[in-house]
Amino acid sequence: MNAAIRDNYCTPDMLRIVRVSLPWPGDDEILVKVKATTVNRTDCGVLTGKPWAIRLFIGLFKPMRPVTGTDFSGIVVAKGKHVTQFEICDHVYGFFDEGLSSHAEYVAVSTKKAVLKKPENVTFEQAAASLEGGHYAFYFLKNLKLNAGDRVLVNGGTGAIGNAALQFLKHLNVRVTVTCETAFVELLKSQGAERVIDYQKEDFTTIKEEFDYVFDAVGKSSFKACKPLLKSKGIYLSSELGKNWQNPFLALLSPFMGDKKVKFPLPYSAKHSMKHINELLLYGEFIPLIDRKYRLEDIEKAYYYVLSGQKKGNVVITVN
Ligand SMILES: NC(=O)c1ccc[n+]([C@@H]2O[C@H](COP(=O)([O-])OP(=O)(O)OC[C@H]3O[C@@H](n4cnc5c(N)ncnc54)[C@H](OP(=O)(O)O)[C@@H]3O)[C@@H](O)[C@H]2O)c1
Repeated sequence: MNAAIRDNYCTPDMLRIVRVSLPWPGDDEILVKVKATTVNRTDCGVLTGKPWAIRLFIGLFKPMRPVTGTDFSGIVVAKGKHVTQFEICDHVYGFFDEGLSSHAEYVAVSTKKAVLKKPENVTFEQAAASLEGGHYAFYFLKNLKLNAGDRVLVNGGTGAIGNAALQFLKHLNVRVTVTCETAFVELLKSQGAERVIDYQKEDFTTIKEEFDYVFDAVGKSSFKACKPLLKSKGIYLSSELGKNWQNPFLALLSPFMGDKKVKFPLPYSAKHSMKHINELLLYGEFIPLIDRKYRLEDIEKAYYYVLSGQKKGNVVITVN
């Protein structure tokens, strides 16, 4: 089969599409013919080995998995003898942020990982695009005590995480204000944002409104800048460590620094988030935003585009 492969942490131009042996499923694994996968920000970390902390999970000196890819959707073509929950021809999708080797025509996946049957009402491309951003949006928001009517500001409504967060919050009847560039204002309104701030025209940190939570889904702002926007007991979250890696430390110290806090939740198994994502997909409450599509052969271009930080939602790789 064809697969995107590298020997060391590298830039996208060093990723090669080569013929490799077909993986064979172990006793608790399924072999999936991949129909779609994505290149996402986690993949960029897995490819480049940056930030360095990621190497603790994916290989200290070189990547444990030569084939890249963290998510997939596709069709089960073989299964191990202990697999009972999936059958041949089932349509499935799955995600594992430490890597699944899914930038390939086939992938062997343990059924102990976050793998589910794909809802029939979504395409293979939508299923693959629902996972990485959806997973992180879910785990960032799940620790908050969100109530209908709460006010949340999401910075970066066109990122994979920010856009999934907008839709998840809307599902909870939370009032969402979101930022994006001019061209996407109408789209985000149609997805349910109460107010959309065009960040090219207005600095969201200067608006005279207060929120229960500020979620910096692109990690471009800071607790200091967002503090005036928070109500008393308000909480700031960021998808990034912060310019000086301050966010995890602020999460520990901010409870002693006043009545506004920082939370920096630690990642956990995608099994929980996928269950939630699956339900929302099934009921049409979450439609992942898809930006560009590339063929597996053009994956290098997809990586460079994602690394540019300009993707809108998700970048899909279609696999024939
Ligand atoms: N903590 C974790 O475990 C974890 C996991 C995955 C990703 N991340 C991080 O989370 C961040 C978001 O990732 P993502 O995949 O959702 O999105 P992304 O690829 O970083 O996309 C960024 C999006 O946000 C928009 N944007 C950029 N600067 C902006 C600004 N100042 N204000 C408003 N919008 C802005 C961009 O639109 P324009 O081009 O129009 O500006 C683009 O649509 C990344 O920094 C990523 O590294 C963290």
